[in-house]
Formats: sequence, structure tokens, C-alpha cells
Amino acid sequence: MLLNRFGLAILTLAFTFSLSAQRTLRTLYSPGKQTMIAVGLNKSGEIFYQIIYRNRVAVDWSRLGFETRSFDLREGFKLLGAAELPHDETWKPVWGEVAQIRNRYNELEYSLADEAGRRMTIRFRAYDEGAGFRYEFPKQDGLSAMTVTDELTEFQMTADHTAWWIPGDYDSNEHVYTTCPISKIDCTHYNKEYAIATQHIVRMKNVQTPIAMRMADGTHIALAEAALVDFGALHLETDVEKLKFKAFLIASADSTVKSVNTLPFHTPWRTVLLSPDAAGILESKLILNLNEPCKIEDVSWIKPQKYVGVWWEMHVGLATWDYEATADMMAATGREVKGKHGANTENVKRYIDFAAKYGFDGVLVEGWNTGWKDWFGKWKDEVFDFARPYPDYDIDALSRYAREKGVRIIMHHETSAAVPSYERQMDAAYAYMNRYGMNSVKTGYVGKIIPRGEWHDGQWMANHYWRVAERTAQHRIMVDMHEPVRPSGLHRTWPNWLACEAARGQEFNAWSTGNPPEHECILPFTRILGGPMDYTPGIFEVRMNAYDPNKKEVVHTTVAKQLALYVTLYSPLQMAADLPENYEKRLDVFQFIRDVPVDWDDTRVLGAAIGDYITVARRQKGAQNWFLGSITDENPRDFSVRLDFLPAGKTYDAVIYADGPDAHWKDNPYPVAISRRTVQKGDVLELRLAAGGGCAISLMAP
Ligand code: NOJ
Ligand code: CA
Repeated sequence: MLLNRFGLAILTLAFTFSLSAQRTLRTLYSPGKQTMIAVGLNKSGEIFYQIIYRNRVAVDWSRLGFETRSFDLREGFKLLGAAELPHDETWKPVWGEVAQIRNRYNELEYSLADEAGRRMTIRFRAYDEGAGFRYEFPKQDGLSAMTVTDELTEFQMTADHTAWWIPGDYDSNEHVYTTCPISKIDCTHYNKEYAIATQHIVRMKNVQTPIAMRMADGTHIALAEAALVDFGALHLETDVEKLKFKAFLIASADSTVKSVNTLPFHTPWRTVLLSPDAAGILESKLILNLNEPCKIEDVSWIKPQKYVGVWWEMHVGLATWDYEATADMMAATGREVKGKHGANTENVKRYIDFAAKYGFDGVLVEGWNTGWKDWFGKWKDEVFDFARPYPDYDIDALSRYAREKGVRIIMHHETSAAVPSYERQMDAAYAYMNRYGMNSVKTGYVGKIIPRGEWHDGQWMANHYWRVAERTAQHRIMVDMHEPVRPSGLHRTWPNWLACEAARGQEFNAWSTGNPPEHECILPFTRILGGPMDYTPGIFEVRMNAYDPNKKEVVHTTVAKQLALYVTLYSPLQMAADLPENYEKRLDVFQFIRDVPVDWDDTRVLGAAIGDYITVARRQKGAQNWFLGSITDENPRDFSVRLDFLPAGKTYDAVIYADGPDAHWKDNPYPVAISRRTVQKGDVLELRLAAGGGCAISLMAP
């Protein structure tokens, strides 16, 4: 039966490998036989693998290996042994989209030695939803460390699939996605009309992982990385003629070196997510499963949260981060200038009151500490002091006030990418937070990395992000990193690492050409595969000319879509990003943001097409309430949603927040039509999504 099912694959195996080579050939099937991985050595002792998924080749014969400064690990290999092991376990994430996760795979440990006797094991895991593999270098005589200069891993695609990708930028992931066939991948336009402040795009065929692809028959593939620890991030170099991707590791300050590792060590996992449809890619837990279990013993202090903050007002230009600008203005005019510096005591109190009144957990305060005068684009060390508030920010009084109101102030550590300076202050800065009862920090790495020559995506920075996760955990602090490398599932290991930005977030809508309406329909299939994003949804005043008539920037969605994002963009940390006064003008619409939870027991993807639309239903953690979000790109769409996910025999109070009549993200973004119904399992709801629109529904159990 197996031979029949994979008959075609086995045939290609026989053609590709000589008789002697066939002795090294091993095949590994996933537990439900959906995925098969084949691996073998050719006559020259080079390593190749292939992945078959549901009887079609997903990754055709592709090379594996490494180059190091002093030797190559690319040929002359002999097979020492191949051991197969099944695995089936169910674990509970501290927070997440589902209450428990099954980790079920078959593993193959493929152990090799080259002609010089150097040993290397490639560990493969076959899941029904894809495959993962990593290289392992055991402790061995005569080899204590490796200076990796190149990873030779390839992913040979079988046709010119449609791909959703961003450029292989060493320093940023804040790019708009391009959709095109593999053969057309080219980053040139990102250095021209799409350029952003800090970017380093030098190889025009390089893309970042995760990259999502769709085959002609509808099979979906995502190439990604899991558990990026002590290594450069995995980008991919595209061979646009051969339709092949090759691993490209981001280098360290010595640009010829990709990574330096002491043995024993292993690389992060290289993963191939597979699904017959787009929805399956969203439901995959493969990346999380390939990460190590939680390292924190007592997790009782880790809490998903919703927050507001002194933040958007700076992005829309109403306030500044920098206090000195206010002070300078006062000196120049001889008059008191009030409120221009956002993080002033009175303003922060207003946010604390708002958070307490409407049930938010946290208030983020940016621009509270000294350093902002000198932070942007100067590539300067020793800029910020993480324990010195500006004179108009009374941290003692505010911490007390927040405690009385049952709200937590969220600390902000913008490092301006001066990383050694941050590392020197880190422990003291976290102790300072502990003293003031703050248990969450948003970090930031705007600008070019100090030490010079390091990149946001390099090994040195990967180690830094890990250290921050570890040290914050020691101080019982949750962390949200902006401008880090994109996540790779490490939040399983460090669940205090609630979210990252690491993509183009809402802020771009405030001061740039913004995020096209399809953007949020792509993120979950690419960037968010590795972990939650602090996207900061919830903008009600979507036109920036409301703040300044000269402004042309807009949020490229309707207001209803802003609500739906709380469900479609999964994160245990969600901001209600707009100004309190904008919410107070539309309390009926705001009610959805108040109601929607940030932690879930169950998730169902009801419909999805990359770049087009996503409809998701989720059940609130520890409750029977369900929430549904549906979003579309620039095209209006209608959906019939059958409420099959509800339990039988119960009625629910549904509040539907839909795009109003004639809503359109550009021409008419504001109207939200709110309606109420009693519904039960099996009922069908007709959703009408405007161009750039969405629909959000709360389904409250009685
Ligand atoms: C970029 C971050 O993404 C943004 O949220 C923050 O406000 C600024 N840096 C300032 O730190
Ligand atoms: Ca589209």
C-alpha cells in the first residue's frame, strides 16, 4: 500500500541513486503517512533529501551540507547509522490559540562521517503537516569549534509556484509583501520606491523566511525556521531559473563569517510546512513543536494582556517622545508649553484612568526616559538611560496611581540598537521596573546595530534577544520586542516573550504610504507563523488629515476591519492603539475591543486565501464565549458562515460589527453597522465585507 501511494517517489529515488548509493537511502513517513522524507548519499558522498506530500513532490532532491573556514562538509560522507524513533506527546502552552497541542512525528537520526572522520548528524522529523530537520555536531576529538561560512541547504521547488515574500534585508522585516512567481523574485524595487529608514538589501534574489507558496493544485508550502538560537537567521537565495532556494545565513561583523559555534551544537530547525489549503498553514503547530519546552518553572505571573498607551499620539504628530524639544520650545518662546511631550504625568494619568475605566491591563508609556534628543539615525552609543525619567514624568506618583487603579504601566526600553549599552544597564533596568511594580517591557532596536557591522538578523543579535528573554524571565517580566529578528517559536521556551513586532506594523499607516489592504491577509501566513505580532490594531480615526489638514496618510482599512484584526491577527498582547478621545466618541464600536479576549482555548480557521481573506473563530480561554473575525483585501467579499463550531443546545447572543452600507477603506471607511441576534449551532450568518473591510462578531454564552 505504501509503495502504491508513494510509487512515483520511490521510482525517482531509484533513478537518482546508483546501487551503492541506494544502501544509504532512508525514507521516513509521518505517523499518518501524509509526508515522506527521503535522504541519501550519492556516489561522491554528497547528501540529498526529498519531501513527498500526499503523493506529490513538495521539495525535490536538494543538497544538504556546510562550508566552514577550514573545511567543507559537502561531500565524502559515509553513513554511520540511521535510527528511527516515533514520538507522540500532548502539551499545554502557557497561553495560545488552543488549550493543548499534539506533537506527533516520526524521527530519523541520520549519522554521518566525512573522509577526515568529522561527525555530523542530520535529524529529520516527519509530521503529517510537514517536515523539519536540523544539523547536529556532536562532541568529537580534533574539532572543538566551527566557523560557519555557508550553509548549503537547498529547497528545490517543482514548479514556478506563486510566492508571498519580503526581501532578504539583514536589518529589517518592515516591508510590504510582494506576490509573484518564484521566477520573478527580485528585490530591486525595495531599494527604490519601497525603501524604509533602516534597511540593508544587497542581494536582489534573497528573501526572508518564512516565505509562503501555493502550488498550481492548491497545495500550500511555507519555508520557515524554528528555534533560532546562537545562529544567523535563515534567509533564502532564490535561483530564479532552477526554481530553487538555497540557505543564506546573515553574517556577523566579520562579513565572511556566518556563525561561530562551539561543539557540541546544533543548528535551528529548517522547516517545510505543508497543507492542502491555506487554512492548514494557519493551523499548523509545527514550528512551536520544534521548539524546546518552557524553561520557566513558575509561570503564574505570565499573563496575556490588552493595553493602551502614550504612543499613537507621537506617531500622528500630536506629541513628542523628546522632553527637551518641549524645554527648548519653552526657552525660545518664554512661555510654558504644555502637553507636547507625551509622557508627562498628567497625560499618563489620563491614560491610566481610561485603562481602568474600560478594563485594560496595561498602559504603555514611551518617551519617559532621557535620551530621545539623540536617538534617531545617529548610530550613537550610550544614548538612553533606563533608570532616569524626564523631569515632567513623576514615576513614583504614577506607579502608585496605577497600582491604586489596578493598572500596570508598561515600561519602554528603546535602545536605538546600541546593544552593549543596553546590556550593561539591563539588570539594573529590570530591577528598577521590579521596584515600581512594572512587569512588562517593550524593547526596541531602531537603527543600525552597535557594535558596528552586526545586523539585526545575525548570530550576535540572536543571542542578545535570547539573553533579554532569559533575564526578563529572571525578573518576572514579560517582553515585547520591536525590531528584532522575526520570531521562530521561541515563545514556547520563554512564554514571558509575549510578542514581537518584526514586521510592518500599524505605525506605517500613520506616517508612510502605509500597509496595503492585503497586508494583514498575508502576515499570518508568513511572519506570524513564527510567533505573535504586536501589530497594534484598533485605529478608529483612520485619516491622518484629522490631525493636520496637510496630511495625506490613511489607514488602509475600514473601521470594522480594525476590530476584526483582534481575532485574525493572533497575539496574547494586543493594543487598543488609538487615542482615548477617539474611542470615547464611538463607545458602541469600542465595545468589541473591550470584550475581545487575548487568550484562547480553541481556534477554527473557517476560510482563508493568502493575500485575499481570512475568517477565524476562537473560543475564549476558560469560557464558552466565541469571537469571530473576517477580513478581506482591497476586494469586497461575501461569506456565509455556518456556526458549526458552537456547542449544540445552547443559544448565544451575537453582536455583529459589520461594514456599514457603502463602506470602503478609501472612500468611506468609518461606518460600522452594529446588529444583535440570538444564534445557535448550525445557524448561518451572511457576512458582507467592504473593499478593505472586515467583520467582527462576539458570541456570548448566556
Ligand atoms: C519603533 C517601534 O516600532 C514603535 O512602536 C516605537 O514607538 C518607536 N520605535 C520608538 O521607540
Ligand atoms: Ca489579494
